[in-house]
Amino acid sequence: MVASEIIRFDHVSKEFEKNDKQELQVLKDVNLTINEGSIFGIIGYSGAGKSTLIRCINGIEKPTTGDVYFRDTVINNIPNKQLRERRKEIGMIFQQFNLMPSRTVFENVALPIKYSGLAKDEIKAKVNQLLELVGLPDKLDVYPSTLSGGQKQRVAIARALVNDPQILLCDEATSALDPQTTADILKLLKRLNDELGITIVVVTHEMQVIEDLCEYVAVLDTGKIVEQGDVYSMFADPQQELTRKFISTTSKLNLPDEVLDSDLLHLVDNQLLIKITYVNTEAIEPLISHISRQFEVDANIIVGDIKILQQKPLGGLVIILDGTKANIEATVQYINDQNIRLEVLDHA
Ligand SMILES: Nc1ncnc2c1ncn2[C@@H]1O[C@H](COP(=O)(O)OP(=O)(O)O)[C@@H](O)[C@H]1O
Ligand SMILES: [Mg+2]
Repeated sequence: MVASEIIRFDHVSKEFEKNDKQELQVLKDVNLTINEGSIFGIIGYSGAGKSTLIRCINGIEKPTTGDVYFRDTVINNIPNKQLRERRKEIGMIFQQFNLMPSRTVFENVALPIKYSGLAKDEIKAKVNQLLELVGLPDKLDVYPSTLSGGQKQRVAIARALVNDPQILLCDEATSALDPQTTADILKLLKRLNDELGITIVVVTHEMQVIEDLCEYVAVLDTGKIVEQGDVYSMFADPQQELTRKFISTTSKLNLPDEVLDSDLLHLVDNQLLIKITYVNTEAIEPLISHISRQFEVDANIIVGDIKILQQKPLGGLVIILDGTKANIEATVQYINDQNIRLEVLDHA
């Protein structure tokens, strides 16, 4: 089945006017397509324009130039009344949960449908069903202040789903949570995607969120998308320096600077410290023995790791290559020819 697009950014730029009448360019010619039913991540540092970008999807922000399509509708061009209707199809959650402290959990979740014309018992059934879905069936009558951060976010998720939206926008939804609670919320989001088929768009500064949750990712650098693609390919073969920086934050293959700066590894003569990243995990043992037989180069493994991304393994090794200069060069050439990503970390 061909995936159909649900959101498309077509040459979207956004400028804000600063106090000194200078223009601040926050989004620069953004093009991206989000397919129905997918989980799409946008990663960037603070101030990169992530919130502005995601707010263009539900029309809270409008592009200065370019268009944002929600299916066939140009969301930035429709009248306000129509926009309010379309917004019901797009739920949103936030870093700080944005619950009403003076309302109970039930009232918070029910708020968006309070004046929808639904009967009281229909509203009640809907809210109950959603609180069940997010794992908080017994919290109907409590106030948000009595809940943990993870529970608050679950209430916010239930509220975001109350109009049965097609899309759920998540703006740094786990950034205020500890790692375990983050993992639980990401699992819940994944389940909602699986069970309801809802399209999920997340913006985050944490690569772990992308790794654990997303199928597609775009890297945003001060308003510009510098790289985008499926998450596996991005981890296997990142093209941009910024992407590599984000990936290194979730890698177990980083040697601490203390190790690299010291003589702990005792690199001598022609020894070369390399990191390789490989897709075909079965081919790696033959590769190592091939290197030692064909080129008479020893490969001393320092660290190894396998990640499972999108149900596929991605391997990595940090190795010291030891042999003559010519043989090490031939080995590096050979590894590169195998379509294995190789980075030189250090040499003697
Ligand atoms: N309404 C606004 N008016 C003026 N500047 C804004 C406004 N909203 C955001 N900005 C500026 O735009 C830039 C990007 O902000 P934002 O989209 O919030 O980035 P991020 O979510 O990646 O941290 C920042 O420099 C921010 O100060
Ligand atoms: Mg933000």
